[in-house]
Amino acid sequence: MTLRLSVIGTGYLGATHAACMAELGFEVIGIDVDPNKVAILQTGKVPFYEPGLDEVLERNIAAGRLHFSTSIQEAAEFADIHFICVGTPQLAGAQKADMSQVFGSVEALAPYLKPNSLVVGKSTVPVGTANEIELRLKATAATGVEVAWNPEFLREGFAVEDTLRPDRLVVGVRSQRAEDLLREVYAPLLEINTPFLVTDFPTAELVKVAANSFLATKISFINAMAEVCEAAGADVTELAQAIGYDPRIGNRFLAAGLGFGGGCLPKDIRAFMARAGELGADEALMFLREVDQINLRRRTHTVDLARKVLGGEFVGKSVTVLGATFKPNSDDVRDSPSLDIAVAMSNAGAKVKVHDPKGLANAARVYPNMAYEQDVLKALDGADLIIHGTEWNEYRELDPAAVAKVVNSRHIIDGRNTLDPQAWRNAGFTYRALGRPNA
Ligand code: UDX
Repeated sequence: MTLRLSVIGTGYLGATHAACMAELGFEVIGIDVDPNKVAILQTGKVPFYEPGLDEVLERNIAAGRLHFSTSIQEAAEFADIHFICVGTPQLAGAQKADMSQVFGSVEALAPYLKPNSLVVGKSTVPVGTANEIELRLKATAATGVEVAWNPEFLREGFAVEDTLRPDRLVVGVRSQRAEDLLREVYAPLLEINTPFLVTDFPTAELVKVAANSFLATKISFINAMAEVCEAAGADVTELAQAIGYDPRIGNRFLAAGLGFGGGCLPKDIRAFMARAGELGADEALMFLREVDQINLRRRTHTVDLARKVLGGEFVGKSVTVLGATFKPNSDDVRDSPSLDIAVAMSNAGAKVKVHDPKGLANAARVYPNMAYEQDVLKALDGADLIIHGTEWNEYRELDPAAVAKVVNSRHIIDGRNTLDPQAWRNAGFTYRALGRPNA
């Protein structure tokens, strides 16, 4: 009999996982506490922007392999394997993770679980969580219920691709049976030679936060080099290209600019430091504090640079920020560097207009008082300064000569180092970028 799966939590991770597991041929139920989200998903629509996900979702709902519900009892009765994909955001007023959704969903599931069910954690959690869940389930769930940890490495914007063709699969297990069940789930991915690593619980949990810490460190490393380049009059993009040819270093994740944001890297490195502190290993992760600081400093530096370009004062000046999302090909504005600097300049007295191809609705929910404009040339109309904050393709394709006609003054700051400096300078703009010399 084919395995039946449930996916608890239908955010970027859960909705993608549910749709992709159905794509692999399983019968899947996706659960969320938000009835609106469930209603949208049930009609085959994705309640957020993730390229390619709509087709997978629609196809599998039509095939009858995938459905959504708010009833966790239904999930427990329907499925043999339950993937926990709920959020672990930063706890308000603290540096650690808010674990209420993880423990809340496990506790809601526990009394209804069938004997021998497998509960598989995918959320990013403090090390020790799998063990804690196992203890709680032993006390409250049916016999033979087991836990496994299977961290998720998907990137927003590439979520479907990363789920169906991952770099690797990591499973933390305590029994051969749990390993065998996960091998059965991921059989189609094992057939395409996806590396499959079997570990204990704490290692599996740590793999995820270690990977994100490494990525964050790589970005902050190149942004620290950008600071030095600014002081020395050097060019960080050339420096990154040159060091990246060394295969030990590699050229990916070396793009200097406004730094990292999103729902993962910033809060994950903070929660990792907090957890290491609880374990008495805080010294080991001191460097992550610096990684966080370098990252945040790029935002304040950009606001300072903007003020300087505008002659020392924001009041009475119009600034257009291109990009609201934390990265292109997503509508996610969580901890977005671009939106963050827009807010900072607005608070300092600038008239700020924000453009984004996909993220404006989410941005307006968080900052309802900012001015948003869906049409890029209208957004640029009358600007004294343009800040390129998120590297959507649309911005690379802008014609600087056409933009020159609508702005008030020709100044641009490229916060992502992906525009063509010469093209903008040829159109009469002062082009400034992070970590690169002036003209
Ligand atoms: C990240 C991890 O990549 C993924 O493996 C994990 O599962 C979740 O967290 P995501 O948050 O989707 O994924 O974004 P990612 O593509 O990693 O980018 C994170 C941030 O870093 C973005 O704000 C991006 O603009 C920034 N970034 C990335 C840089 O500033 N420079 C780079 O060279 C790369």
